[in-house]
This record gives sequence, C-alpha cells and structure tokens, in this order.
Amino acid sequence: MINQRLLPAWILACLTLFIACQSDATQSQEEEVPSLQRAYQDNFFIGTALSARQILGQIPDSLGMIPREFNAITPENVMKWGVIHPEPDSFSFEIPDQYVAYGEQHDMHVVGHTLVWHSQLSPWVKEIQDSATLREVMKNHIEAVAGRYKGRIDGWDVVNEALNEDGTLRKSIFLDLMGPDFIQTAFELAAAADPEAELYYNDYNMCEPAKREGAIALIKQLQANNVKIDGVGLQGHWKLETPTLEEIENSILQFSALGIKVMFTELDITVLPNPWDMTGADVNVKFESGDSIMNPYPGGLPDSVSQQLAARYESIFQLFLKHQDKISRVTFWGVHDGHSWLNGWPIRGRTNYPLLFDRNFQPKEAYHRVMALKATEATAQK
Ligand code: XIL
Repeated sequence: MINQRLLPAWILACLTLFIACQSDATQSQEEEVPSLQRAYQDNFFIGTALSARQILGQIPDSLGMIPREFNAITPENVMKWGVIHPEPDSFSFEIPDQYVAYGEQHDMHVVGHTLVWHSQLSPWVKEIQDSATLREVMKNHIEAVAGRYKGRIDGWDVVNEALNEDGTLRKSIFLDLMGPDFIQTAFELAAAADPEAELYYNDYNMCEPAKREGAIALIKQLQANNVKIDGVGLQGHWKLETPTLEEIENSILQFSALGIKVMFTELDITVLPNPWDMTGADVNVKFESGDSIMNPYPGGLPDSVSQQLAARYESIFQLFLKHQDKISRVTFWGVHDGHSWLNGWPIRGRTNYPLLFDRNFQPKEAYHRVMALKATEATAQK
C-alpha cells in the first residue's frame, strides 16, 4: 500500500494513473487473445463436451484453453442415466455437481445431457415390466436430476435419439411400455422440474430426409399438444463428404420454420473409413485397429486430408454464419482429437482427427479456416 502522508499529491496521482494503465493493459491483452468463442460471440455459442476427467481437472493442459475457446459445455457422459442414477435409490451427483459449478464459474452456457435415452441406461430400468412403474421411475429420475440443478442448467436434452432412420419411433423400453407418449411425458416432467431451462429434442442423422421428417412430425405433435419444446439438437457426427451442405441447409430451414432454436450439439467429422460403407464386411470380426485399411493414419494426418477437413469445416461454418439468426449453439463433441469418442467407435483403437484441436491442444488448419471466416467478415464490413 502507498502511504499517502509521505507522498505529495501529484506523485500519488501519477502513481495511481500508472497502476490503472497497467491493469487496463493486462485486461485488454487478455481480451484480445483470439479464440473461437470470442470470434463467434455475436453469432452463436461455441461449445464442447467435457469428460469426467476434464470436469475433475485431471487433464491440466485443458484448464486454460477450455474457457478461452468455448462458452458452452455439455457433459459427455456423467449426466446419462446409467452414470448419474445407477441404482433405483442411488445417484452419483458428485461429478455432475462439479460440472455445473465449473460452467457457472466461467459464466458458460450449461447444457444437461440427457434425461431419457435408450442407450447408456441403467440395467435396472430395462428390467421394469409395466407402464405405470416405468412412468413413476421416469418421474423420479427427471425430478431428481433436473430438479437438483433447477435454475442452473440452461438447456436440457430431454429426449435423445428416439427415432429410427426411416423416421419411425425406435424400439426401446420406453416405447414398448409407455407407447409414443413417453416423449411428451418426458418433456412435461422436465418442464415441471425446471421451468426456466430450455428443453430440446436431440438426435443424429437429422439431415437425412426421412429421419428429419420424423423429427419434424414429433416436434409438431408436441407443439400441437402445447408441450414446451424450445429447440432441436442436430448432433452432427458427420463425414468429409456427407451430409451435403444442401441437406444441412434444408434442415436448418425446416427445423427453424417450426419456431424453435436449431443447435448443432455434437459436431465432429470423421476422416476414417466407415465399416458400414464396405458392403459385406463383418464389422466385429474383420476389422482390427491394426488394420491399415480401417486405421490408415496412426502416425499423423497427411496434409491432403488435413486440407480436406479444413475445407469441410470452413464450408460448414460459412453456412452456419449464413443462418446465424436461426442457430443458437454449435458444440464440438470433445476438446481435441485425442479426446474424441471416434478413436474408439465404431472400431476400437483407431487414430481419428475429427476436431479443431490436435492432441497437443494446438489449433489445426481447420481451426484457422473457421477463424478466418470471421476475419473476412470483419474486413468486408469495414
Ligand atoms: C458418446 C460418448 O462420447 C462416449 O464416451 C460414450 O462411450 C458413448 O457415448 N450420441 C450422443 C452422445 O448423444 O451422448 C454419445 O456420446 C455419442 C452419440
């Protein structure tokens, strides 16, 4: 502290001014560090999925870059039924609590994922045999989970992946016992448990016309019944060539015409061959991680593919910017290539490169191209 009695007033004034300038400089330096979420702050949220290890701070390098690059988060696994509610009377809230606190600490948009999903569901739920019990169990689950974070989760993926590829409802314990109404029930329970949270329907392959039609019908049905639904999540587990920009654009236009927010909730772009494209292949037996056909880039991505990935991301973000008034969030499914679930799915032990950051947390060519779009936009506006 400066002892005011020992210093003439003018020296004190100069010192105060000097200190103020210094702290301003530090602040503005921080603000000027370019980052994805800062570049896109006037357009839509830029999110990432966080694993349990990231939430627990066990991946130290990511601590600084996550809040710098992203302003929205989704829990990759820790809020799924099988993880958060493993036994009828037991909940694992410890890591989800830290997840929500982390989002609040960094003033992020905090997503809840997911309340009702046939996958990663606790085995005890699958043993239920009658509709009334399952309804009661769903009610308890949603009240306990969405209720615990009431007012602190910005939006919930209420129902995840309820549709087949042809747009019909997927077979699940929920559909089997409760009928198609399980979706409406889930949304109503979520709205009651946390009235302020936005409520979403989330699914993959939503740019495929048949599935998209199914999703539109599902959303219209909810709306016709006055059920609160605020947005639709298109997961965006995409490939280098598909879905086409045209189908992505059709989806943005058709979903937003329903009067709801459109979000890309789990974006990643695989650069590896897809076993299902290879007709006659037996996925489980034939392809091992050592197979050079299915795992062609274990030591690094060739520049030609890296350029292809960068161009694909650039054109996708160009489209997102074109429709920024309809898109509220774009979330990547993971922070860097090493964290991506696509290293383990649909074939275990491969080396994939689907995100914007490499395994050392360094921005890739795709990142620079996505950032450059904003620089071009700014120059064009001048
Ligand atoms: C994935 C996770 O990334 C993996 O860690 C987990 O083993 C399986 O689930 N659709 C979804 C996500 O809605 O929850 C899935 O996440 C990916 C597909």
